[in-house]
Amino acid sequence: MSPVESLSVALGERSYDIVVGPDLISNAAKLVAPLLDHQPVIIVTDENVAGYHLDNLSHSLKSAGITSTVITLPAGENTKGYEGFQGLLSKILNTSPERRSTLIALGGGVIGDITGFAASVILRGIDFIQIPTTLLAQVDSSVGGKTGINTRHGKNLVGSFYQPRLVLADITALSTLPRRELLAGYAEVAKYGLLGDKEFFEWLEKNGPALIEGDDTLRQQAVLKSCHAKANIVGRDEKEAGDRALLNLGHTFGHALEAETGFGEKLLHGEAVAIGMTMAFDLSAQLGLCPTDDAIRVRAHLKAMGLPVQPKDLTGQKWESAALLSHMAQDKKVRDGQITFILTRGIGNAFMTSDINVSEVEALLDQAIAA
Ligand code: NAD
Ligand code: GLY
Repeated sequence: MSPVESLSVALGERSYDIVVGPDLISNAAKLVAPLLDHQPVIIVTDENVAGYHLDNLSHSLKSAGITSTVITLPAGENTKGYEGFQGLLSKILNTSPERRSTLIALGGGVIGDITGFAASVILRGIDFIQIPTTLLAQVDSSVGGKTGINTRHGKNLVGSFYQPRLVLADITALSTLPRRELLAGYAEVAKYGLLGDKEFFEWLEKNGPALIEGDDTLRQQAVLKSCHAKANIVGRDEKEAGDRALLNLGHTFGHALEAETGFGEKLLHGEAVAIGMTMAFDLSAQLGLCPTDDAIRVRAHLKAMGLPVQPKDLTGQKWESAALLSHMAQDKKVRDGQITFILTRGIGNAFMTSDINVSEVEALLDQAIAA
C-alpha cells in the first residue's frame, strides 16, 4: 500500500488540500482536527455508506475527543432534490449549528453535492469537508466546489460554487463499492487522459484492468493523477468561464442519454459519460478533426473495461435521435441557442466548439442508435 499523498487546489484564501491514501477514514481525526472551530461536527452520509464506513469515522473522531452528530439520508439520486434538501436543512438546523460549525460529507457524489449546497446556505455559509467514498466522487465531484440539487427541470440546476476546506480520498473505502459503480467512476478517470493527457490514457490501457480488480496502489495513482488534472483546471477557471468546460467531455451526449433513461439505475452517470466520450471521438473523426484510429482505440479500451460504449449497449431501451437532440438543446452549456460540444483532435487533445452543424450530430446519432 502506498503512503498518503496530497495536493492542493490553489484558489487563494479558499485553497484546500486533497489527501489521497489508504485508511484515511479511520485516521480522519488528525487531518480534520486542525480545521475545526466548533463541535460537534455534523456528519452527513447515506444508508449504504453508513453501514460500511461511519463507525470508522465516528470512532476516529471520538478517540481524538471530537464530538459528532450524524445525519443519515436515503441512498440514491432521489435524495438530491428539493424535498431531500429541505429535510437535510431541517436536520442540520435541529442540531443548532453556529457559523463556526463544520459539515462532513461522507459518501458519493449525491451526499457531497447536497451537503456542499447545504453548507453554502446554512447561516449564509459554514465550512464543509468532503470524504468521498465512490471512485466518481474521489476523482470528480468532491473536487472543485460544484454543489447542488436536481429539480423537475433537470439535474444540478440549483446550486452554488462553494469549495470544501479539505478532501480526504480514502482508497480503502473503494473496496466496498459495487463493481458497476467502480466502473462508472473509471469512465471519469479515463476522461482526464482523453481530454488532456495521452500518456495517462496509455497508462490506463495497461493498468486499468488490475485497478478495477482491486489493486490499491494503482487506484491511488489514478485518483491522484485525476485530482491533479482537475485541481489544475479548477485553479485556472473556478466558475467555468472557459477551460473547465473541457471536463464535460462526453457529457453533452451522455446527459441526453441519461435524460432519456430517467437519471437512474438504468444508466449510471459514468456509464453515460463512457458512451458520450466514445460518441465525441466518433463525431470528431467523422468531421475529420481526429484520427479514426484514436476513436477506435477509445472505444476498444472502454469496452474492454466493461463499460457501455454505444446507446445500443442498453438492452430494451428505445432511442430516437430527435429526442436526444432536444435534450442536448436544453443542456446547461447551450449559448445563444448553440450547443457547445467538447470535441477532440486526438487522444489527450480536447477542445470546445459551438460551431457544429446539427445535421452532422443527427447523422452520428442515427448511426449510433440504428438496430
Ligand atoms: P452516489 O452518491 O449515488 O453513490 C453511488 C452508490 O454507491 C450509492 O448507492 C451509494 O450509497 C453507494 N456507495 C457510495 N460509496 C460506497 C462505498 N464505499 N461502498 C459501498 N457503497 C457505496 O453516486 P456517485 O456516482 O458517487 O455520484 C453521482 C452524483 O454526483 C450525481 O448526482 C452527479 O450529478 C454528481 N456529480 C457531481 C459533480 C460535481 O462536480 N459536483 C461531478 C460529477 C457528478
Ligand atoms: N464535473 C465537472 C466539473 O466539475 O466541472
